Amino acid sequence: MTRRALALAAVAIGQVSPNPLVGCIIVSEAGELVGEGTYVYDNVLHAETIALNQAGVRAKGGTAYVSLEPHSHYGKTPPCTDALINAGITRVVCPIEDPNPLVSGKGFEQLRSNGIEVVTGILADEAAKQNEKFICWHRKKRPFVHLKLAMSLDGRISLKNSISTALSNEAALKHVHDLRHEYDAILIGGNTAFVDYPSLTDRSGKLRRRKLVRIVLDNRLQIPVGSPLVFKANETPTLVFTNSKDLKKIEELHAKGVEVIEPEQGGRNLDVILAQLAERQIQSVLVEGGMGVAGAFCDAKLVDKFTFMIAPLVIGGCEAPSAIGGKGAETLNDAMNLSDIQIVRHGSDIEITGYPNTAAANE
Ligand SMILES: NC(=O)c1ccc[n+]([C@@H]2O[C@H](COP(=O)([O-])OP(=O)(O)OC[C@H]3O[C@@H](n4cnc5c(N)ncnc54)[C@H](OP(=O)(O)O)[C@@H]3O)[C@@H](O)[C@H]2O)c1
Repeated sequence: MTRRALALAAVAIGQVSPNPLVGCIIVSEAGELVGEGTYVYDNVLHAETIALNQAGVRAKGGTAYVSLEPHSHYGKTPPCTDALINAGITRVVCPIEDPNPLVSGKGFEQLRSNGIEVVTGILADEAAKQNEKFICWHRKKRPFVHLKLAMSLDGRISLKNSISTALSNEAALKHVHDLRHEYDAILIGGNTAFVDYPSLTDRSGKLRRRKLVRIVLDNRLQIPVGSPLVFKANETPTLVFTNSKDLKKIEELHAKGVEVIEPEQGGRNLDVILAQLAERQIQSVLVEGGMGVAGAFCDAKLVDKFTFMIAPLVIGGCEAPSAIGGKGAETLNDAMNLSDIQIVRHGSDIEITGYPNTAAANE
């Protein structure tokens, strides 16, 4: 049942940020499934309330399976703990606490003090992974950073001279759009904006609550005025972080709807840039390269998750850019060690996803 609650929560991917994904199931005293709910930000009602409304009087004496700790405070809605207590629920099964320090543990506490049995920990890792962006946001006070790169078998992300190169096959590209759908923003470096003319849009075809924000780190303001990042900025927001004083280009970009931001601490300080994104309620960022920007995030130990999409190609040569630039590791001990590795095939392409040890270390 907890798995079912997690599946219900997942239905709203792309529709809850900056709030968490939550699903709820009510099982009656007789063991019958009598209510189901999925939280969607714009529908306001919480998953528990939707499921309890469906269950009606059949909730009395029943069990609620909730994917994240029910909240016990007054926000946009009254406390879900009150709703569970008032409905006569006798047992709540919930894998993890809410990471928000203001509410963490308090929901469970209130349920227990009202005589409700609370069972925690079942499928806790899956539940935490489902809300990894929300959890990072509360624990690290910055957006969750997922670095995704397409590369050849020999680790190159394009041909020599940084020529724009589509390495992934169609199935892999389709998956990338599903991935983009999970994120509040996509970030690239100025060279990629210049070379690739990317659109960086979410073409998953799925509903999303907020527009995907496109971010370019570009101190030389290489971003071409004719690129889709600029001429479509009124449809899909584009932010450019720069320390350039090229007022003419800045004016041109502004005129097309691009927001140009000059961080006081310079255009390269990733902590400052992430803090500015956090101020805009951007909870998660998919970094899509290139090599320079990928290296900067790795050197700063600011990557929470990696995805490498590997195409069955061998590019070779000394000049084709490798996946990750920057300073890199001096010793194997300094190299990032990935765990919880997932391998998925997309036709002939192989997707490898994992979590670096540095992500846990800097919590
Ligand atoms: N296969 C893939 O997944 C993939 C994805 C993206 C790109 N690419 C390819 O990668 C190549 C471009 O890679 P690249 O390494 O040349 O460019 P990049 O990473 O897109 O951009 C690097 C530039 O970003 C700017 N920047 C701003 N803040 C930075 C920071 N904190 N640290 C580092 N750089 C920062 C710098 O320019 P300023 O000094 O002007 O700020 C730097 O030169 C292209 O060939 C593109 O096609 C491949």
